[in-house]
Amino acid sequence: MIYANSTLQILSRRCLKTRRSHETGLDTDRAQAHQRPGCKGMIRFSDVTKRYPGGYEALSQINFHLAPGEFAFLTGHSGAGKSTLLKLIALLERSTRGQVLINGQNLAKVGHRGIPYLRRHIGIIFQDHRLLFDRTVFDNVALPLVIAGYRHLDITRRVRAALDKVGLLDKEKLYPITLSGGEQQRVGIARAVINKPPVLLADEPTGNLDPDLSREIMALFEQFNQVGVSVLIASHDLALIERLQRRTLVLRAGQLIADGVPRTEGH
Ligand SMILES: Nc1ncnc2c1ncn2[C@@H]1O[C@H](COP(=O)(O)OP(=O)(O)OP(=O)(O)O)[C@@H](O)[C@H]1O
Ligand SMILES: [Mg+2]
Repeated sequence: MIYANSTLQILSRRCLKTRRSHETGLDTDRAQAHQRPGCKGMIRFSDVTKRYPGGYEALSQINFHLAPGEFAFLTGHSGAGKSTLLKLIALLERSTRGQVLINGQNLAKVGHRGIPYLRRHIGIIFQDHRLLFDRTVFDNVALPLVIAGYRHLDITRRVRAALDKVGLLDKEKLYPITLSGGEQQRVGIARAVINKPPVLLADEPTGNLDPDLSREIMALFEQFNQVGVSVLIASHDLALIERLQRRTLVLRAGQLIADGVPRTEGH
């Protein structure tokens, strides 16, 4: 377990006094009351609007709070604004109005030079993997640590632990092109968690995978969440969302129209 004994785990537990009651996803006010400023793993949107150049309003006055260690889905039709919302968290885009707080930090105050530091604390998994095809699996996963200036020995140890976690330890010397879609996705997940980020974002992580692989990938996200990582997953996959019975934020044409645990028939 790459998160075992990590300070991250301790930090998240300390911040997360209301986790149990919060699992319904409907008890955000109480969680906010217990939220300590600066806690790792929190996401808060206050009246956030995103208008793209050209005038299109992709998100309109979005309000929600994800407490440290929470797990939530983000769903809605194509074009509803899911990717835009994730991009605002990682500062791949900036909000037009309103406030985005991540790990207690107001993103409006993060300048160009602060962006790499912010991203070190957020793991991002893209639908199209964004792997480097001229580098081995090992080198792809190592990249964030190489950029952050880690020692060779630490890099080797942590990459192996991450690859072990996603079940790809025996593939470290291979190039991504020789892997299946699900394996490539798992390399992307290993790379996203290698820095032990308190927040993990995934944009349609099971988009191209069959149901068995989707289940495997979701189980991985749940494992990270169990050790205190906040997880936010954009997904179209309503069957999967319904099965997992987790908090779900629903966007429609840029508006947040629902926030709670989906109710299946018979419940
Ligand atoms: N860079 C951009 N410039 C202008 N408009 C954009 C840009 N990126 C996204 N949009 C528009 O914003 C809206 C929301 O896009 P976004 O990618 O967030 O939707 P989505 O919910 O992720 O959709 P999908 O399920 O298809 O991935 C869309 O109408 C899209 O055309
Ligand atoms: Mg999208």
